Amino acid sequence: MKFGYFDDVNKEYVITTPTTPYPWINYLGSQEFFSLISNTAGGYSFYKDAKLRRITRFRYNNVPLDLGGGRYYYLYDEGDFWSPGWAPAKKELQSYECRHGMGYTTIKGKRNDVSTEVTFFVPLNFNGEVHKVVVKNESDKAKTLKLFSFLEWCLWNADDDDRNFQRNFSTGEVEIKGSVIYHKTEYKERRNHYAFFSVNAPIAGFDSDRESFIGTYGGFDAPKAVVAGQSNNSVADGWSPCASHCLEMELQPGETKEYVFILGYVENPVEDKWESKGVINKTKAEAMIAQFATTADADKALAELKADWDRLLSKYILESGEEKLNRQVNIWNQYQCMVTFNLSRSASYFESGVGRGMGFRDSNQDILGFVHQIPDRARERIIDIASTQLQDGGAYHQYQPLTKRGNDAIGGNFNDDPLWLILAVVAYVKETGDYSILDVMTPFDNDMSVATPLKDHLKRSFDHVINNLGPHGLPLIGRADWNDCLNLNCFSTEPGESFQTTTSKDGRVAESVMIAGMFTYIGGLYARLMEKVGDMDEAKRADSEVDKMREVIMKDGWDGKWFIRAYDDFGKKVGSEECEEGKIFIESQGFCVMGGCGIEDGKAIEALDSVEERLGTKYGLVLNNPAFTRYVVEYGEISTYPAGYKENAGIFCHNNAWIMCAEACVGRGDKAYDYYTRIAPAFLEDISEIHRLEPYVYPQMAAGKDARRFGEAKNSWLTGTASWNFVAISQFILGIQPDFDGLKIDPAIPKAWDGYKVTREFRGDIFEVEVKNPNHVSKGVSSLVVDGKEVAGNVIPMFNDGKRHTVVATMG
Ligand code: BGC
Ligand code: NOJ
Repeated sequence: MKFGYFDDVNKEYVITTPTTPYPWINYLGSQEFFSLISNTAGGYSFYKDAKLRRITRFRYNNVPLDLGGGRYYYLYDEGDFWSPGWAPAKKELQSYECRHGMGYTTIKGKRNDVSTEVTFFVPLNFNGEVHKVVVKNESDKAKTLKLFSFLEWCLWNADDDDRNFQRNFSTGEVEIKGSVIYHKTEYKERRNHYAFFSVNAPIAGFDSDRESFIGTYGGFDAPKAVVAGQSNNSVADGWSPCASHCLEMELQPGETKEYVFILGYVENPVEDKWESKGVINKTKAEAMIAQFATTADADKALAELKADWDRLLSKYILESGEEKLNRQVNIWNQYQCMVTFNLSRSASYFESGVGRGMGFRDSNQDILGFVHQIPDRARERIIDIASTQLQDGGAYHQYQPLTKRGNDAIGGNFNDDPLWLILAVVAYVKETGDYSILDVMTPFDNDMSVATPLKDHLKRSFDHVINNLGPHGLPLIGRADWNDCLNLNCFSTEPGESFQTTTSKDGRVAESVMIAGMFTYIGGLYARLMEKVGDMDEAKRADSEVDKMREVIMKDGWDGKWFIRAYDDFGKKVGSEECEEGKIFIESQGFCVMGGCGIEDGKAIEALDSVEERLGTKYGLVLNNPAFTRYVVEYGEISTYPAGYKENAGIFCHNNAWIMCAEACVGRGDKAYDYYTRIAPAFLEDISEIHRLEPYVYPQMAAGKDARRFGEAKNSWLTGTASWNFVAISQFILGIQPDFDGLKIDPAIPKAWDGYKVTREFRGDIFEVEVKNPNHVSKGVSSLVVDGKEVAGNVIPMFNDGKRHTVVATMG
């Protein structure tokens, strides 16, 4: 069942009912000011950091669902009132529609023949959300209407805001000037920042104290002021400051009124001391408000935002015969990659914004799917991430976006982390040809006095693996590798002690075949990079370490029909036929094959066949099988999940992509594409009632075959799934691969395909690539013609002339 439809021309998903199976959200902003907005206008905003600079309040896990806060509008019409986005008033509407687009959301609702359309967006280079509100009287009589706005301020630190009531109920401060409501509560140390909510019209009243607006025992569904059709002109003094305007309008039949509201954030220089307590310098806010004096200003900014997205999405355009594939590749997957790049795993409807900042592993992987969009931002991000690395090559697992400092509370010792940095840097260099990034002096743990060139950080990343090998010569897993929940050094003699402990009986010797596989793949790329910069000795050393690791994997990491997953702290195999449960895991199959293990002797194919047989389901591949049905202290958190959920045999969409890549590496395009379509959201639109989450973005996970709710997704939006699936489809399946010396064409497609076209902007040139498949093969380019001339091999040479070039790649 569907709850809307794709409008590909406008790059929108159109939701036709407010009661979607779960709130279906969108993101606004992609620079410094960000907002989450649901299809009924729930959600919140923050500046840079969802924890430390939360602007509006949102209650997670609230009842009823998605009424924890938002930017709400209410229409008042002679005693009746409603919200055009249905929530929070939840009055029946004559019509409703929500369009989630690229960085904007438009919600339309009609009741009493009054239609209201609100378009929410964060303009480019603007620290605020603009709401364009259009109210139209579609009835045949004149109407006197009132329009109420409402949002609730968060006292900046979202974590503290949610806990520290003894203090926070006494700190709230606001100021009302004309039609602008300023929020100027100070947060502990004095910071010169504030927020405001304005409207470009005179107001009939306002409220800035939540209790006055909704009533002490009231709710957002029927605020006291709206029910009465009258604001209280309340000025908040502590408690919960909010911002609500009331506008009065007379509308003749057919007449329309338009308004621009702005929710803005201002940061004055910290040194620029406030004159005295509570007096703020409003110059910047006034300038922001003046920028959107009219709705025409808002329309222009929205058009600019759309043009910017058209530009970003023009870098990779697929024309295939499959509509769902086109929309997935051309619009939504790339859009999700931008969002994950911006937010890492910090703020979604499943991530509270206070639990996590930027992940070292996560943000590096996000670069893979994002780098072609804005390479300069990828470069900056790589340096930020690398600056949190430790001198031994290890890394802080997370850092806070506002401070860019490693998070001590979480620490490090996830031994896969360092390798992802190499992968991100290789992706950046292949995309841009900019080797100068390797010379950037980059600190360790943000300490510039111990900075070395980025190239040296990569060496330390590589060495971190070989300096930490276990008894079989496989990499030590540390606290966990990519699979956060496989905590093999978790043995604890204290009953009930946390599985995250690193105390172990034998002294932390658990090893990861997945890291070993990653090392063969990423270590190989590192060697190629070293060759390119002329460091032949380092390239040779890296190649020989990688060869050695391949041998170790084939000797002690092969189980007979697949790659084992790990050795636990007692030296016992994990992910082996010998195990009672969890006999096979997906991760090592993907990476060992990508790293070239078992290619010649057929073991790679055997491993991938085992994946299909044991892990395959109609909704994607589960992570492991059989699922754990009981807690295993030696394995840690993974076995705490019920069977079929999350890392315990859930369909983890992220690592499904590794199998697609591995299948492409062994030339099985049909399988690669089949796996792709099993999890790609646009292909699941028709089963939205089962899947439940947005049909336009990937979730982290869907319940696996062992779960009662098989196929039901969770954790949409912020997941490495976005970038890895984009890599899988755009580079491994469609085969348009940035390489050091040019664009390589190496598809692995279903045999039945006749061909397709990809327009790819690469290092400033535009390549119009037509792939033809006259002999119906899956792999292998037999001829490459560039601008009418035959080229040897399958790499398009660089022109660097900023022009369009036509390319015909014939397979067979
Ligand atoms: C989840 C993982 C996640 C980790 C992050 C675990 O509980 O299952 O998916 O990566 O928490 O802290
Ligand atoms: C989500 C985390 O963000 C990611 O870093 C991790 O690799 C996966 N969960 C798997 O545990």
